[in-house]
Amino acid sequence: MNPSSSILVVGGAGYIGSHTVRQLVSSGKQVIVLDNLVYGHREAIVDESVLFVEGDLGDRACLDQLFSEHDIGAVMHFAAYAYVGESVTDPAKYYQNNLAAPLVLLDAMRAHGCNIFIFSSTCATYGNPEYMPLDENHPQNPINPYGASKLMLERVLADYSHAYGLQYAALRYFNASGCSDDGKIGEDHNPETHLIPLVLEAAAGVRPHITIFGTDYETPDGTCIRDYIHVDDLARAHILAIDKLAEGTPSFQCNLGTGIGHSVQELIDVAKTVTGVDFPVQIGERREGDPPELVAAPAKAKELLGWEAEHKDLEAVISTAWAWVNGPRKGHY
Ligand code: UFG
Repeated sequence: MNPSSSILVVGGAGYIGSHTVRQLVSSGKQVIVLDNLVYGHREAIVDESVLFVEGDLGDRACLDQLFSEHDIGAVMHFAAYAYVGESVTDPAKYYQNNLAAPLVLLDAMRAHGCNIFIFSSTCATYGNPEYMPLDENHPQNPINPYGASKLMLERVLADYSHAYGLQYAALRYFNASGCSDDGKIGEDHNPETHLIPLVLEAAAGVRPHITIFGTDYETPDGTCIRDYIHVDDLARAHILAIDKLAEGTPSFQCNLGTGIGHSVQELIDVAKTVTGVDFPVQIGERREGDPPELVAAPAKAKELLGWEAEHKDLEAVISTAWAWVNGPRKGHY
């Protein structure tokens, strides 16, 4: 890849995409964002040097035009749908957007000679854990269409790598969390289903309470344990991955997590400390499909990319999200 080539960031106006775009720009890269704005926010692209194109990753004509008009050296793909519950009730939406549409993108890349691809995969590809922490060799048996769509694309990438020489990195995120340190961009999903933003909305008085989904799990305090990885740490791993692939490192898959688990109850307690608000907490039923514990074994990312989480302290992670909720945009674009 020519160092002056542009990076095409598909889904760059979303939560993780927009944080990565900012880091790409600060590392001196030319960035083109393609986003259909179904869930993304135009305002999340804050750097004026970024070329923003509103369009869909499954639109071949739009892709052909982009690849013809620009020297695109690599593609980062963040444009997946990620509501696990919705993927169960409307799987067609997930297989269309998370599998069929990226096939169009990969075809366009091949036609235009672009062969570096960074894929946002997920710990949801592992399914119900057989052991903990989860390393990359853990069997992948997803338990919902969201996880299945991500795993299927991982398989496609492995086959394209073998047959067509595609160089890719499948980065399996654990629970993306937090917001940019300066509070300029942040997490804004509609609808919101993730624990940290919901907890902070309870603290801000926007929601009457937070409900804990189950307190009868086989964990020390009975609530589910997750590995909360800061979005800027995720973003940094993408830059390192693209540089590795550009150097000629063979394709790889790796976990992106801290290696540290926190329970829902623990997170709520930390959020009360960070916000200084003793917001109401209710106990609810288990949410279907939630494994009791998901924590990454992050050694492979360290070995391959020299990457490890810098934001390891949950209080500091939640503080960045709280700054966004209290910032000029009040947590919404
Ligand atoms: N939770 C609650 N109450 C809530 C919301 C969440 O108790 O109101 C609990 C959940 O049961 C879970 C934990 O908080 O135990 C975290 O839930 P999130 O919804 O924030 O995130 P998930 O762990 O469900 O994330 C999963 C996968 C990711 C995937 C993501 C898709 O771990 O890989 O779903 O959005 F990307």
